[in-house]
Amino acid sequence: MSTQGYGGLVDAVRFEDWAARKLYRYQQAMGDSVVEIRDPTHLSRSERAALLRRIGKLNLVVYHSRSRVFTKKELKALGIQLGLNRLDKNLMADAESISSVRVAQAGIQTRYIPYTNRPLGWHTDGCYYEADRTIRSFILHCINPAPDGGINTFLDHEIVYLLIKQHEAKFAASLFRSDAFSVPANISAGGELRSAYSGAVFSFDPNSGHLHMRYTNRSHNVRWNSDPEVRQAVAYLRATIDNAVAFSISHKLEAGQGVICNNVLHKRSAFNNGPEAERQRLVYRARYYDRVVDA
Ligand SMILES: [Fe+2]
Repeated sequence: MSTQGYGGLVDAVRFEDWAARKLYRYQQAMGDSVVEIRDPTHLSRSERAALLRRIGKLNLVVYHSRSRVFTKKELKALGIQLGLNRLDKNLMADAESISSVRVAQAGIQTRYIPYTNRPLGWHTDGCYYEADRTIRSFILHCINPAPDGGINTFLDHEIVYLLIKQHEAKFAASLFRSDAFSVPANISAGGELRSAYSGAVFSFDPNSGHLHMRYTNRSHNVRWNSDPEVRQAVAYLRATIDNAVAFSISHKLEAGQGVICNNVLHKRSAFNNGPEAERQRLVYRARYYDRVVDA
């Protein structure tokens, strides 16, 4: 959905048209089944169309790969067929720029909640990154689920924007401010891992016009602008996300299943691993600078 489709921020009639269509299509697609794919390296026309159709409505799709082999190579190939070419390489990604997200026993990963079995609150990926490293999509692929917990919940950020703009448009405007929050530099013993960053919660991509969201509910990682207008808007945003249960999609990924999404809001519940290796949660994560191509 482009800026044209949102009706910008001022054209109320076009916004309402977009909002009505978005809500209808979203609610219609929420109950859709998981898309089965036979070979992640060679999607059939109908498999690819089914993936893109759901992403077009929800900004997200759950797939189930029936291939016996699913390594990081297959994950990469799957993304390329959907227009995902530019992988972000973060500190925890390996040579293939894909992270193996599991409970870390030692090292730098233990500093980060994704690498523990603790719950992860609502966030979009890469909200700490500079603008030239904007994460527009990601794929999570489950190799092993945890026997207990580890459920992902997703919420399309377009829906959050829509709800705020429909009910309290002034708050939506505050969340577009380019100084809505700042992130301090991430300093490690070896030097600076990430420079300080200041940004907007919502922004429209200058090239595609698509809505982008940067958010984390971990308040100690971001400094919200002290302007009361921004503070109120963030409180309203938080409440909107928490209350949008009817629009949230929860799914516990089974082995072979994955999620492809345009970096929507998401969270993860706590989990407990089993003693055997195959009962220890392992999820591959690929983050991209590209959005999934339009259907
Ligand atoms: Fe995430």
